[in-house]
Amino acid sequence: MADTMTALESQADLSAEIEDTAATWATAREPEFQPRRDYPPYRSTLLRHPTKDLFQVDPEGVELFAPAFGQRDVAPLEADLTIQRGGEPLGERMVVTGRVVDGDGRPVRHQLVEVWQANAGGRYVHQRDQHPAPLDPNFTGMGRTLTDADGVYRFTTVKPGPYPWKNHHNAWRPAHIHFSLFGTDFTQRLVTQMYFPGDPLFALDPIYQSIVDPAARERLVATYDHDVTTHEWATGYRWDIVLTGAHRTPVETGEDPA
Ligand SMILES: [Fe+2]
Repeated sequence: MADTMTALESQADLSAEIEDTAATWATAREPEFQPRRDYPPYRSTLLRHPTKDLFQVDPEGVELFAPAFGQRDVAPLEADLTIQRGGEPLGERMVVTGRVVDGDGRPVRHQLVEVWQANAGGRYVHQRDQHPAPLDPNFTGMGRTLTDADGVYRFTTVKPGPYPWKNHHNAWRPAHIHFSLFGTDFTQRLVTQMYFPGDPLFALDPIYQSIVDPAARERLVATYDHDVTTHEWATGYRWDIVLTGAHRTPVETGEDPA
């Protein structure tokens, strides 16, 4: 195993770079709100991240007026990732809920919120995920819902496991749930990830650390909420998504990460 891994850099090398970047940021403490596109420890995106400023274009008419989805197309049961197959998925059943709001705290109503995630063993149902963790026949890891009149979304699922990826030797992603928010047309989409409090992999993860301002990246971490936890049924987490303003939620700006 070690022989085949000699070409890959070590976690120690990557962690040293992560710490250097964090130390440089700490000298100036200029607030940052988004992941850095050019973040060298995130090796697997070095050659694919945008290297030029984004070019602003007006959306084409078809993007503004073509039907994207209809509210009646989203069934309430699609928010429950534990009932999609014939039986219950394995893992820690949990509810994740929160509000989608603008920078002034106003609810973003009837917003399409989609999620995808690994199963409790850290495995995705995806051709490119072939690492030796079991698939769960009762879990697809995909769900969607609409926010209600107060901007609230709510999913029932199982807690995803951490999983390895190929950024460097012994690279592991903290447990996370991918979120996509869709507006009313194809030009309005945000993609981001939600994490769990206290994850020991935070300090080691180049994707999480590519948001170098700690205040910004901590906005991606849900809080455990015992009022969301349900008696003898599920643990509960709360995570709000802020679309604009100084407390906005960081979103992804390039290729979809792992
Ligand atoms: Fe992922």
